[in-house]
Amino acid sequence: MRQTSQHGQWTSRFAFILAATGSAVGLGNIWKFPYIAGENGGGAFVLIYLVCILAIGLPIMIAEIMLGRRGRQSPINSMRDLADEAGASKFWSWLGWLGVVAGFLILSYYSVIAGWAMAYVVRVASGVFEGVTADGVSNIFGQLIADPEKLLAWHSLFMMVTMLVVARGVKGLERTVKFLMPALLAILILLVGYAMEQDAFEQGVLFLFKADFGKVTSEAVLIAMGHAFFTLSLGMGAIMVYGSYLPRKVSIGSTAVLIALADTVVALLAGLAIFPIVFANGLEPGSGPGLIFQTLPIAFGHMAYGSIFGTLFFILLVFAAWSSSISLIEPAVAWLVENKRMSRMRACIWVGLATWTLGIGTVLSFNLTADIKLFDKTFFDILDYLTANIMLPLGGLSIAIFAGWVMSKENSASELQIKSPILFNGWLFLLKFVSPIAVAIVFLNAIDVI
Ligand code: PHE
Repeated sequence: MRQTSQHGQWTSRFAFILAATGSAVGLGNIWKFPYIAGENGGGAFVLIYLVCILAIGLPIMIAEIMLGRRGRQSPINSMRDLADEAGASKFWSWLGWLGVVAGFLILSYYSVIAGWAMAYVVRVASGVFEGVTADGVSNIFGQLIADPEKLLAWHSLFMMVTMLVVARGVKGLERTVKFLMPALLAILILLVGYAMEQDAFEQGVLFLFKADFGKVTSEAVLIAMGHAFFTLSLGMGAIMVYGSYLPRKVSIGSTAVLIALADTVVALLAGLAIFPIVFANGLEPGSGPGLIFQTLPIAFGHMAYGSIFGTLFFILLVFAAWSSSISLIEPAVAWLVENKRMSRMRACIWVGLATWTLGIGTVLSFNLTADIKLFDKTFFDILDYLTANIMLPLGGLSIAIFAGWVMSKENSASELQIKSPILFNGWLFLLKFVSPIAVAIVFLNAIDVI
């Protein structure tokens, strides 16, 4: 197998950790996790999500990085060569294709939501939230999403900056994430500090951590599992392609643990910052995708230097989204460069344009086409459901089957270099049995077969 990828490689283990954490930590942690936890009843949902991260997400993350580093190419080509090495059918490259399509679909709506965050940078900075009430914030949010032109403009801007970084390759990214992640963490902690001063802090904490399994439906379990994949960027080749730029000597197991931990801490901090504000202001925890845009501005509007902290917060959120969106599209770009002999720049323009066009569907689904629904879901809801709850778990399941059953144990052992046999066998057991069975059961349950 090759020693390095044609696209270059990370300069160190730390650089990879930053990039992969940059991919993992994004809108999923700060925007999506609180609102789906809110919609699905809180504590029990959070607990199921944490179990999914540990028992399914972490082993699959290790597997995905491992496959990437051994294949050293875009997921499509890596899977083809790895299947060849294992004496299996070349058909496995479809797994790379599934990922390319999922990344394209996710980025198309991810960019629209990142656009909301961009719009909020300007709004918070202008001071409109100073002393604002919960109703006032909801109005401002409502006006934003009701305006397709504004949404489209922000979506276009976000797509442009994303494709600009991807066009410049692995290097530019490394430098940006180094500062962003620590700064984002600092502001989140500050927000949790504000939330702690609220009388409703305890209520918020209880909502997030007190498990009441009575409210859990099989749909909620599917959403929790899907989110474990989404938040760790698993099942679509993003982590695989980043793994393909990973230097040989880096230990994959411990690195993956750090990434998953950082991702989980950020999500829980976001929840701790948001729910006390929700309850203190009589808002609904289940108010959907607008949740953070309707709660956090209240905090910023009432604390000292709130406009400054608020502006900084939304800037960082945009950056967090940015470092994730890059990884969503990297598998497609890497493949075009490898197979179509396109320059990186050209590949970015094509993929960027296609994604932007599809994004218009999501823009409209919040206003003009909000009433057009299929199975009670808007265009945005359908994309979100299809990708996070179906495509990513399916991709993850296939990765587990390939790494656990198709690839030889000698090869995975030599790639992972886990010294303790207990840890290695533990990983293999989770990968071969626990993750695939769990994903299968959740799937079947959700479609009401069981
Ligand atoms: N993990 C990112 C987030 O939580 C989203 C993402 C999903 C990025 C899949 C890459 C691949 O926001």
